[in-house]
Amino acid sequence: MDTGQAEASHRALARLSAQVNLQGSVLSFADSFWVLGIYVLFPIPLALIARRSGPEEAQATAAVHSPHLESVNESAIERSMADLFRHFLRKAGLHKWPSAANYSNQGGISEMFRKWFSKALMQETFVLLAICGTVAAQTAPIAHQEAHRRAEALLKQMTVEEKVGQMNQASGVQMPGLGTEKPEDAIAKGQVGSVLWLTDVKELNRLQHLAVEKSRLHIPLLMGFDVIHGYRTVFPVPLAMASSWDPSVEETAQHFAAQDARAAGIQWTFTPMVDIARDARWGRIVEGAGEDPYLGAAMAAAQVRGFQGESIGPNSVLACVKHFAGYGAADGGRDYDSSYIPEVLFRNVYLVPFHAAEKAGAGSFMSAYMDLNDVPASGNRWLLHDILREEWGFKGFVVSDAFAVASLQVHGYASDPEDAAKRAATAGLNMDMASGTYLRNLPKLVASGKVTEAQLDAAVLPILEVKYQLGLFDNPYVDESKVDAELSRPEGLTLERKLAARSMVLLKNDNHILPLGKNLKKVAVIGTLADSIKDIEGGWTVEALFGGPGKSHPVTVLAGIKNKLGPNVEINYVPGSVPTREYPSIMDGFFGVKPVPPPSAAEVAEWLAKAKAAAADSDVVIAVLGELATMSSEAASRATLDLPGIQEQMLETVAATGKPVVLVLENGRPLDIRWAAAHVPAILEAWYPGTEGGNAVADVLFGDVNPGGKLPVSWPRVAGQEPLYYNHNLTHEPEDRPGFTSRYWDVSSKPLFPFGYGLSYSTFRFANLRLSKDRIGAEQTTEVQVDVTNTGAVAGDAVAQIYIHQRAGSASRPVRQLKGFRRITLQPGETQTLKFPLGKEELSFWSPQTKAWGVEPGAFDVWAGEDSTASLHADLTVIE
Ligand code: NOJ
Repeated sequence: MDTGQAEASHRALARLSAQVNLQGSVLSFADSFWVLGIYVLFPIPLALIARRSGPEEAQATAAVHSPHLESVNESAIERSMADLFRHFLRKAGLHKWPSAANYSNQGGISEMFRKWFSKALMQETFVLLAICGTVAAQTAPIAHQEAHRRAEALLKQMTVEEKVGQMNQASGVQMPGLGTEKPEDAIAKGQVGSVLWLTDVKELNRLQHLAVEKSRLHIPLLMGFDVIHGYRTVFPVPLAMASSWDPSVEETAQHFAAQDARAAGIQWTFTPMVDIARDARWGRIVEGAGEDPYLGAAMAAAQVRGFQGESIGPNSVLACVKHFAGYGAADGGRDYDSSYIPEVLFRNVYLVPFHAAEKAGAGSFMSAYMDLNDVPASGNRWLLHDILREEWGFKGFVVSDAFAVASLQVHGYASDPEDAAKRAATAGLNMDMASGTYLRNLPKLVASGKVTEAQLDAAVLPILEVKYQLGLFDNPYVDESKVDAELSRPEGLTLERKLAARSMVLLKNDNHILPLGKNLKKVAVIGTLADSIKDIEGGWTVEALFGGPGKSHPVTVLAGIKNKLGPNVEINYVPGSVPTREYPSIMDGFFGVKPVPPPSAAEVAEWLAKAKAAAADSDVVIAVLGELATMSSEAASRATLDLPGIQEQMLETVAATGKPVVLVLENGRPLDIRWAAAHVPAILEAWYPGTEGGNAVADVLFGDVNPGGKLPVSWPRVAGQEPLYYNHNLTHEPEDRPGFTSRYWDVSSKPLFPFGYGLSYSTFRFANLRLSKDRIGAEQTTEVQVDVTNTGAVAGDAVAQIYIHQRAGSASRPVRQLKGFRRITLQPGETQTLKFPLGKEELSFWSPQTKAWGVEPGAFDVWAGEDSTASLHADLTVIE
């Protein structure tokens, strides 16, 4: 048993103890010993015996390692174990044991022994212990050590070609012009270790049969897909989930997605994307947690836990942390462009969420596409080896981004494909995604001694280990009969609706225009996004990618409003024209979607007239505006941030009627909404809220849910401010200094809405900020305490945020850095005192002068409040 297994069994047994009413009793030391012996230690040898009992055991994989949402199997097993325990305790006359009083009434421990050793009870005890042992063995994942042992044994039997095969990930779809061929012959020859972009379960099984039955060593394939924010039940996009400022949102959603994915034959997801994004022009800002390393780290670790559980096992989906690293710093926000990031910034900001994901146990990483300081990430040994493996001790494997090994030549880094394979393999890149460059070149590189077989072994070993840990050798196939039922679990929709509402950010609410009353007579709904099924789920929808039309039934905002208000309220819907991209999306190219031409002047005039009439004839206008899903995410960078198409004109037209207007944003990045912020009384940022998104928007608009999300990004006024982030350094002429107020002469350099900002239908007071110690040594920790009170009339969520600034040291430090946060619910008038540690973890930084992490003595500012402009302040001094 490794720690993971032991923890899993302990958790199961702890829950079990609770069920048989052992918890809360008074246990003497001796009693505790016996309880420990019976419940915990005895099953261990049995567990080990059962563990060795051969490959079939993996069938029995009722996972105990997903504490947040217990699986049906798990609770069924626990229930039967609990029944047995109760029976046993009753038989022994110990059913009230071990409460101290009962125990002495029953004659004490000698009487207990006498009863125990009676023959019948002995037999039952052993039956019980055997069951415990077997269950503990079957519910625990294969320990990493055991996986390592088996992988090493297998590796010894493999030829160079077979090893290279494991390092080759083949595309499950054929892409014209990209050299992706049908992989079946290669699979049967053992030349493929993993397949991606395939969701058809019959096809997954067919290919898996080829690998398991036809290849010489019967090594199963690892099936990968981008399960980014849900499988059939699509959760809010990652930027939205980060806006919840609640890591359990990510963990719960990704755990649900993992169960779906696993049931559908996917064991590996290319998630989480933990790239820091300081520039809203970069389309992939939607896939991450925004600009902040601390928030990003919390969200990264939560997603790893969600997918993998506490350790990788037969019910886990292997997480893949991407894009390692610095991808979000693309020059000009242009996707795939080079990143130039000084080491000080790289370590203090960009690498932080990656390291958090690694520490959370992520089993794989994906190297990024771009040049990092002139060395492409996929061939960058400093990154893939020195930092990831040497410094952090990462034991999993690294896959390239798609075609990135071949691209090393395109970058002008490798001279030809053979050179590309050599540079990537020797840099520490274990698997080549889709380019076939390893497959075609590594065998000859080994033959010529340019890549050693030892290097190959080191690359293959963690791939095999993971396959053992995931239980693939024992149970490689999908149960086709169960897929649809699993993917249609109704609880997914309830969960999705809740998490979507939890992820929304109320940006403006003048005169409490929101929540809207439900007694309206006529409502105008404006904007093509208001009723777009295609867009409300955002970009990465598994079943719609390569797999034909998605099978979920998304609820649009228009449908959500109708659901909420019922048939007696008249809804006047005016979509307007569909906004278009100047240059089509790569996704449109893949799926043959024809771009819609922009509307003619006459069409525009007609739409505006209709919008005006609908608004004039309604009590309130709800404008749902933003970007189509293909306008953000991969290959979806922008030079401007305005509302595309005629959306802004539609908004201005309806606002001119004088009717109250609520703007709901459906988008994947902050947009230039200066006009709306100045003229529209209420703005709700819904992002792409997922399958139940429309219902969730209606829940918030009509007050069934009080919004509590906060921005994970600084919201720019205009694209020209980008990159814009709150944790910048001081300048010698700060914007706030009287007499020197402009950094730009045309626009403020401050954001429209600051990082961490978001309103509620309630209000909160932060008071009484204090530190348990205001002087600490560099190795010590102080505790920040702050009182948060709901000063409004309704219950609501506050997100307490702690920021620090170090006033002097071996390097200039950011004006503020987030170092703690917590989302809490408070009833009207309720106060909670929140406590946050400030110690080595929070106070240290990587200094460009010492080239090391450390806490430097000196003076620190500490702030607590509702966003990154919080003014409640305390002083902290760190002494030598
Ligand atoms: C390219 C993207 O950059 C990456 O995020 C994704 O996981 C892979 N393609 C696989 O689809």
